[in-house]
Amino acid sequence: MFLTSEVYVPIEARLNSIWRNQLHSLRENLKFEWGRYDALWLPRNLFNEQKQRGLPSAMNDLGSAHGIFIIDPSQNSDELRIGGANLQLAYDYLIIYTFWIEVSHRRKSLGRKLLDEVEQFGRKNSKRRILLSTFEFQDGLQFWKACGFNEVGRVEDYPEGQRLIYLHKRL
Ligand SMILES: CC(C)(COP(=O)(O)OP(=O)(O)OC[C@H]1O[C@@H](n2cnc3c(N)ncnc32)[C@H](O)[C@@H]1OP(=O)(O)O)[C@@H](O)C(=O)NCCC(=O)NCCS
Repeated sequence: MFLTSEVYVPIEARLNSIWRNQLHSLRENLKFEWGRYDALWLPRNLFNEQKQRGLPSAMNDLGSAHGIFIIDPSQNSDELRIGGANLQLAYDYLIIYTFWIEVSHRRKSLGRKLLDEVEQFGRKNSKRRILLSTFEFQDGLQFWKACGFNEVGRVEDYPEGQRLIYLHKRL
């Protein structure tokens, strides 16, 4: 059966009205949920959508989030952790989000040792570059430059009066 324009237009109008009602009802009943920050749930969904549209092959691996801690076995307290890093493997990158050594243990090459571990982990997982950002005022900038990182970008006034620096290193 062919739909003539006299039949088709009213059907289309009716469907549009049903769809508009459903959309209205969805908007009216929407709920928002505040929760724990999940580093991968949203990126994974975005990634899956993009994958269906056809991603450049270098972007085929969204990766995973990891944490590494430095443990001091000589400490008797429960708090054995004296530093560590939070990072993500994504595409051919290892991205460092947080990198920290406890104050009393600084300038003893622990930062370098931790970075060695992180770099080895990256290579083992076929990653070829490291990317991170740090504030200019932090000790980090001198540390990263001493460890072979190059500045690749900066965000001025983040926050007001401060500067965020992006650093990069090839593995
Ligand atoms: C940045 C940080 C991780 C360095 O850790 P660390 O264990 O003290 O670093 P290392 O002892 O391995 O230092 C390696 C080299 O980095 C450079 N460096 C490290 N800290 C420095 C500082 N405060 N000023 C100047 N150079 C510094 C030096 O060249 C040093 O070599 P040297 O000690 O032989 O001179 C530590 O200071 C820290 O946790 N800072 C607070 C958090 C932070 O800024 N994190 C990075 C941003 S994500």
